[in-house]
Amino acid sequence: MCGIFGYAGNGDVCKILYQGLKSLEYRGYDSAGMAVVGDKLNFIKDSGTVDDVLTNITFPVNSVGIAHTRWATHGKPNKINAHPHLDEKNKVAVVHNGIIENYKQLKNQLIKKGHIFKSKTDTEVIPHLIEENLSLGNFEAFKKAVAQLKGSYAIACVIEGSNKIYFAKRFSPLVLGVNGDYFLASDIVSFLRWTKQVIFIEENDIGYLEKGNLYIENNGKQVNRRPNEIRWNFEEAAKEGYEHFMLKEIFEQPQAIAQTLADKRLISFSKHMSELDKLVITSAGTSFHAGLALKYVSSLPLEVIIASEFSELYRGGEVLSISQSGETADTLRAVRLAKSLDHKINALVNVVGSTLTRLADKVIYTHAGPEIGVASTKTFTSQLAALFQLNALMEGKTLPEINVNPILKKADEIHSISKTLSKSNDIFYLGRGVNTVTAMEGALKMKELAYLHAEAYPGGELKHGPLALIEESLPVVAICPSDQNRDKMLGNIEEVKSRGAFIIGLGYEKDEELIELSDKFVAMPAVDSSLTPLYYSIPLQMLSYYTAIELKRNPDKPRNLAKSVTVE
Ligand code: AGP
Repeated sequence: MCGIFGYAGNGDVCKILYQGLKSLEYRGYDSAGMAVVGDKLNFIKDSGTVDDVLTNITFPVNSVGIAHTRWATHGKPNKINAHPHLDEKNKVAVVHNGIIENYKQLKNQLIKKGHIFKSKTDTEVIPHLIEENLSLGNFEAFKKAVAQLKGSYAIACVIEGSNKIYFAKRFSPLVLGVNGDYFLASDIVSFLRWTKQVIFIEENDIGYLEKGNLYIENNGKQVNRRPNEIRWNFEEAAKEGYEHFMLKEIFEQPQAIAQTLADKRLISFSKHMSELDKLVITSAGTSFHAGLALKYVSSLPLEVIIASEFSELYRGGEVLSISQSGETADTLRAVRLAKSLDHKINALVNVVGSTLTRLADKVIYTHAGPEIGVASTKTFTSQLAALFQLNALMEGKTLPEINVNPILKKADEIHSISKTLSKSNDIFYLGRGVNTVTAMEGALKMKELAYLHAEAYPGGELKHGPLALIEESLPVVAICPSDQNRDKMLGNIEEVKSRGAFIIGLGYEKDEELIELSDKFVAMPAVDSSLTPLYYSIPLQMLSYYTAIELKRNPDKPRNLAKSVTVE
């Protein structure tokens, strides 16, 4: 998830680009750059933060410029891979947020025509495609280039000799601030200081803007997009209207999962994994749960070792480390131990350029974008999506389509359940099979966000001791999809219900028996059993979020916890 920004107006272009980009740094901060149009196209870019790269930049400029702060998805964070990207003659500059899925095919075609590429990024194909057709006129060339792109994009482009910014949007966010000048950006927060008048660029809109003039078309027809008055302050705008980053990130899961699954490197990585006769997964916290879920669903000979226990339990073998931050001290220590014993290291990471990516021999990424809330939500379901996809590919299958949108619509219903939970001191989470992991993840969320004691157990373990804890009105969250464990899980629910437990059942929407047993029921769609942890974790994220709200906790910054645990 990168941040793009463009400006057309009478102000100090370079300064406004810098200020706008500074407000977008929460979207990505591993490299930055800008391009402005003066008597020629001037640009600067490098790895580092916006301050590192763009402080006090002054170019001779007429009136338009574009800028970018990067969250690397393809290619390491360095000067060559930083945006803007340009054609060989440095006449066309482009900044982009999204993933061009067919970039390799386009790049090969362009190389055959003699184009010279410098970076490893998908974005770099765009300026070359535009340059190819400049004889048609700038906007026609821009439209022709965009028409060839597959995937997600929010693009801004400037061309030498023109005082226009060309733009296009598909699946990635793009908004326009208006106050006589124009501010084109990935989100509203970046231009709030100048204007609250916002035009929302819509899917497949393509157009250009210049001082005092805006043109947009959609499917070949000119469209008129009217400005809206936004009432957010700066902090609210960064949360795009959500009360907390955590809630925003819960709702970003469809895009995070889709962008993760769009990474074609999962295919080559799955081939590598299928050749292994052993793989040791190591990670911490929620990332440990992701690895454990894979062990349940995969036929691969997998070991899963909590990173802080790795030195006690590791007996050799190739490693797969899983980490959102790529900076978790326990996980790094585990990886360094395995490396010292000459074992190969693979990594599934969300933050490009993090320490773990530099220690690993092979890296694959979740493409969830920056996760600001301390609790892992979109990065967890993105980890599951990547791991389940790898497993499906290894088995020569394709992952069933993932659509979690219907679950996100249950927020209010789950909020009402949380009002009951917020009055409890102890909560049980029960699951069976892979949903033992779902129970573990749900309990962790409730601990770290609402500060309530939450125990997760395999349903079959109850009678070996924990059943003694069950008493009148004790809430039990029972994860009971209609899979091979359903009937035994129903038996466990009856066991605890007969001792007075308050049952919060999550299961298939038409499971009448489960509905009957549940005091509160969260109806879930029919889901392939291997995907249930991904689907069922989302209501549990919301349950812990709203319980925290009811208890007046700050879900973005839970007490005692850090987003990245860089100490052991
Ligand atoms: C989970 O919500 C927590 N944020 C925590 O358990 C986290 O998953 C753990 O610290 C591992 O972090 P990592 O994925 O960045 O390595």
